[in-house]
Amino acid sequence: PVKAIIFDLDGVLTDTAEGHYQAWQRLADELDVPFDREKNEALKGIDRMGSLERILADSGRTLTEAEKQEAATRKNGYYQDLIARFSPDDLFDGVRDLLLAAKAAGLKLGVASASRNAPTLLTRLGIIDLFDHVADAGAIPNPKPAPDIFLSVAKALDVPPPACLGVEDSMAGITAIKAAGMPALGIGDPAILTEADEVIGHIREFRLDRFVRPA
Ligand code: G6P
Ligand code: MG
Repeated sequence: PVKAIIFDLDGVLTDTAEGHYQAWQRLADELDVPFDREKNEALKGIDRMGSLERILADSGRTLTEAEKQEAATRKNGYYQDLIARFSPDDLFDGVRDLLLAAKAAGLKLGVASASRNAPTLLTRLGIIDLFDHVADAGAIPNPKPAPDIFLSVAKALDVPPPACLGVEDSMAGITAIKAAGMPALGIGDPAILTEADEVIGHIREFRLDRFVRPA
């Protein structure tokens, strides 16, 4: 049975996947490189510089190291403007109750987000104290789709990977969870999240009793 749940953040607990997309689209338009929602799908879960590298690679455009740093910083500024007013009202429906019910059932809770903004966002959403461990994205050697971030959270929670349920909205994230040897619950479209063990459309459909033994 599941003893811990390790959540992705953006697009799982709150609607920031859309914010990341909007910020990348704005930057891509300014750089005059092609970008759209379909290309963005493959960037979900990918860290900031990795995302920029992919956008540039697709366009054939090259930037100097300094230009890349500037562009990544500019995108982050757009993103931070979008989340500046986030509050507990921006949690997806059902998230707070789900976290409280999971804790009451004795599960450990972790966050495995590639975002350097995760601690700030979790604080604004008013839920940071509900987690036993939040990964420090800057300290993880290999980014998603590598399993490192999920393994690092499992270790911090002291729960073996097969007893950790990973919850993700991104292809890269589901690949990372499976590579970590964990069951994967996808949030989104089953036609996209094909590697997930199970897919639901929205976190409000999460049924805790499917994963834990009734007390
Ligand atoms: C998450 C999002 C990605 C984002 C990454 C880095 O994984 O799904 O879209 O690029 O975090 O976020 P950051 O806030 O550090 O730029
Ligand atoms: Mg995500």
